[in-house]
Amino acid sequence: MCGIVGYVGGQSALDVVVAGLKRLEYRGYDSAGVAVLADGGLAAAKKAGKLVNLEKELVDRPLPTGTTGIGHTRWATHGGPTDANAHPHLDNAGRVAVVHNGIIENFATLRAELETRGHELASETDTEVVAHLLAESFSSCGDLAESMRQVCRQLQGAFTLVAVHADEPDVVVGARRNSPLVVGVGEGESFLASDVAAFIAHTRSAIELGQDQVVELRRDGVMVTDFDGAPAQVRTYHVDWDASAAEKGGYDYFMLKEIAEQPKAVADTLLGRIDAGGSLTLDEIRIPVSVLREAAKVVIVACGTAFHAGLIAKYAIEHWTRIPCEVELASEFRYRDPILDQRTLVIAISQSGETMDTLMALRHAREQGAKVLAICNTNGSTIPRESDAVLYTHAGPEVAVASTKAFMTQLVACYLVALYLGQVRGTKWGDEIQAVIRDLAKISGEVERVLETMEPVRELARSLAGKNTVLFLGRHVGYPVALEGALKLKELAYMHAEGFAAGELKHGPIALIEEDLPVVVVVPSPRGRSVLHDKIVSNIQEIRARGARTIVIAEEGDETVVPYADHLIRIPATPTLLQPLVSTVPLQVFACELATARGNEVDQPRNLAKSVTVE
Ligand code: F6R
Repeated sequence: MCGIVGYVGGQSALDVVVAGLKRLEYRGYDSAGVAVLADGGLAAAKKAGKLVNLEKELVDRPLPTGTTGIGHTRWATHGGPTDANAHPHLDNAGRVAVVHNGIIENFATLRAELETRGHELASETDTEVVAHLLAESFSSCGDLAESMRQVCRQLQGAFTLVAVHADEPDVVVGARRNSPLVVGVGEGESFLASDVAAFIAHTRSAIELGQDQVVELRRDGVMVTDFDGAPAQVRTYHVDWDASAAEKGGYDYFMLKEIAEQPKAVADTLLGRIDAGGSLTLDEIRIPVSVLREAAKVVIVACGTAFHAGLIAKYAIEHWTRIPCEVELASEFRYRDPILDQRTLVIAISQSGETMDTLMALRHAREQGAKVLAICNTNGSTIPRESDAVLYTHAGPEVAVASTKAFMTQLVACYLVALYLGQVRGTKWGDEIQAVIRDLAKISGEVERVLETMEPVRELARSLAGKNTVLFLGRHVGYPVALEGALKLKELAYMHAEGFAAGELKHGPIALIEEDLPVVVVVPSPRGRSVLHDKIVSNIQEIRARGARTIVIAEEGDETVVPYADHLIRIPATPTLLQPLVSTVPLQVFACELATARGNEVDQPRNLAKSVTVE
């Protein structure tokens, strides 16, 4: 939530910062702003709305050219999305500018204290108090990094702060507590950003700041301390995403590109994890095998789409390992006093690695003695750093706010963990595990095949653009897929969409069925658990008899559904537990096309931000 960029070097800071903000706009797009140091002073511009509004403002009223600057793209927390509330915020003398991601919980007290000392605050934000506090502190110590440390010691909450002061023209200072902040180390230039995407066009050498650290950025290097000024050890790492991975590459939207990248993302996540003998080699799970063998319970915590991946993982984990598995919304988890101990394995799933609810849940779990395994897509982010082990998904950067390829790779990682637990614990499903590992190796090709047949799904979506409601039904692993289909439609098409377990229909939701209501049904494989298949075919008949327009997603060769499907979407036959990897794809395409047909912003749906770094 909120994207932050800072730059000091030899280039025009404004150009670098605005280009960086473009790559971070997925983090929030309520307003944007920049500040540059030039000609001994500080110049700033900010505008409500998307970054294009700021860019237009910068054309109409250009800022002087300088080589030190900061910028921000906002997802509003305190104060609405207005010009006044946009960042950066300045002190009364206009010498300090600060941008912020997070929430300063004690800002009301700090604000009242500042006002009694004569400061005039112009916005409703919690951030503005920091600009005033920095100005006060700087006037006594004359050192921006030291001022930042002094101010951070007074703040409560989660915050990433980046600031400049006109009296220190070649310095940018950043501070981090809970929200992400990464340093980019270039040749004669340095960068600060919420995400490496903002600077990978300039450097791939990065430093992840730790908790409660302050960084002083200069052209020729960076200095990192804790909030008390003690020097901190830093670790430089190489970012292996290249700049083109965060470009649209000819697609109209990032989401379309990311849907198309799914076969590769799935294959990349499997790469190197299955050996020639068909066994899993997950050396990166640095939790002793003895602990995995002894685990009495698995608890999965995640939010949104990652939570749906967790719901699917439960079926796989319980089936292949016979360990009880609970799946819980991370935002609910720690508030209900969950029962955890040393024999609980907690799996925290997160694309960004920064979701505050998930982070808080895993901290709570570790405090109770549980071991935490993160499944994460973002190298070096907070959730893997604070976990006992991490299994990285290799989806590459996901820029569209609606998660697609990250979800698919989360599923793959969940299957790998489930199969690995089965492998190390040795269950009666040994042969099935071997067979599934072989099937997983082929799944990327099946996803590719689904993508090649999506034109009818797009046509269908366009024809439904005028509808208000779509329902989704599924059973077994098809139920979380139905939830995911509904979530995608809500967030992208802004339609009323709900997912139900098909078995629950008669317990209430069937009352919603009316003439021509589109209902998407995810049909399980007729092979294997055919009783499930038969039951859902009955459910389709029940809703059709009441007028629903049935949109049926069923395996190739499943002829039993044909008479009851107003629209039939075919997916390749897969083992039951792996079906979500192919059945989710049409739902992503469906939501994306419906959003486009309704004139919505596909990559940046209203009110949302990609990385939810506040609770
Ligand atoms: C929906 C979506 C969100 C995220 C959720 C968790 O398309 O993207 O529901 O899945 O905010 O985010 P991460 O995985 O970054 O923890």
